[in-house]
Amino acid sequence: VPETNRQIRLAARPQGELKPDDWEHVDVEAAEPGEGEFAARTVAVSLDPAMRGWLDDRPSYVPPVALGDVMRAGTVVRVTASNHPDYAVGDHVVGVFGVQTHVVSDGSGALKVDIGAAPPATYLGALGMPGMTAYFGLLDVGALREGDTVAISGAAGAVGTVAGQIAKIKGCRVVGIAGGPDKCGMLVDDLGFDATIDYRAEDVRAALRRHAPDGLDVYFDNVGGDILDAALANLAMHARVVICGAISQYNASGAVQGPSNYLALLVRRARMEGFIVFDYARRYGEAAAEIAGWISEGRLKTKEHVVPGTIDDFPATLQMLFRGENVGKLVLELA
Ligand SMILES: NC(=O)c1ccc[n+]([C@@H]2O[C@H](COP(=O)([O-])OP(=O)(O)OC[C@H]3O[C@@H](n4cnc5c(N)ncnc54)[C@H](OP(=O)(O)O)[C@@H]3O)[C@@H](O)[C@H]2O)c1
Repeated sequence: VPETNRQIRLAARPQGELKPDDWEHVDVEAAEPGEGEFAARTVAVSLDPAMRGWLDDRPSYVPPVALGDVMRAGTVVRVTASNHPDYAVGDHVVGVFGVQTHVVSDGSGALKVDIGAAPPATYLGALGMPGMTAYFGLLDVGALREGDTVAISGAAGAVGTVAGQIAKIKGCRVVGIAGGPDKCGMLVDDLGFDATIDYRAEDVRAALRRHAPDGLDVYFDNVGGDILDAALANLAMHARVVICGAISQYNASGAVQGPSNYLALLVRRARMEGFIVFDYARRYGEAAAEIAGWISEGRLKTKEHVVPGTIDDFPATLQMLFRGENVGKLVLELA
């Protein structure tokens, strides 16, 4: 009896915040693997802020998800049948397989992972795309040096928790900016950040001046908007501002709010540079090996927010990112 593949497809281009009827939930017959292919079931789905951008019909670093297409997503899948020499039944594989319960793949762009060594969520978090983003964003784009003072926004999220801990490992002073006392407490008590700023309760600009009186050598920005402006007003000479993301702007239906304090770059002889982690794909192995080493030495803690559910829970789970309801990497784990 053929199995049913349940898919979450894009039904409408969202305007502003996502709504349930931007999605359709569709059942199709699960495909059989052809020669050189394997079939697999989805075990865990990655939720990423970038997904919001992929839904807009405008030029970006990847084409938009087409109306009617299965939503693009990184997932971990478990092989259920294989005609591929490199994949056996029971293997776990990470790849961009989309928001659906069943997949068939020839292995292109996929990577076999050992879930005995780390749970699926870690391969979507610290050992996956967000971990690579933190690593290359901080060390390569941010040109991090020992003794730097570093501030990170979105600090309690998937990228932020890894970036802050890497900066600590590299001997830096780290200030995390996050929403709410619980997240701020976790960053200091659990992850070893030196200081935090609760942007919902504090004046970020004044707090940065207090926590980094000599200015920021590196500002790693995940949120954009007013917080980026506050950081630009507190730069040290030759500072590096890393534009990793701008989640505060992703639901904007009008113009994105740009930084008004950009002349601080001139005054401080600083630079601001954006990057896309995919450009570092050839070096992922190097980063993953180093991060895995730090995890096994107990120097880097993985933070994952695993939501158990079904594929139908994808739309509601994605919303959690924009409400700040996740701590660490947000993952939907399928029963
Ligand atoms: N450049 C790249 O290649 C690349 C790759 C991966 C990710 N990114 C970017 O990195 C950033 C973090 O991604 P992630 O996967 O680690 O997500 P995440 O930080 O785990 O989750 C998003 C967090 O953003 C915060 N947030 C939501 N709305 C906000 C607002 N209006 N103002 C300030 N903060 C807000 C929330 O935390 P609070 O409770 O603290 O508000 C929320 O938990 C995103 O901007 C993403 O697009 C870039």
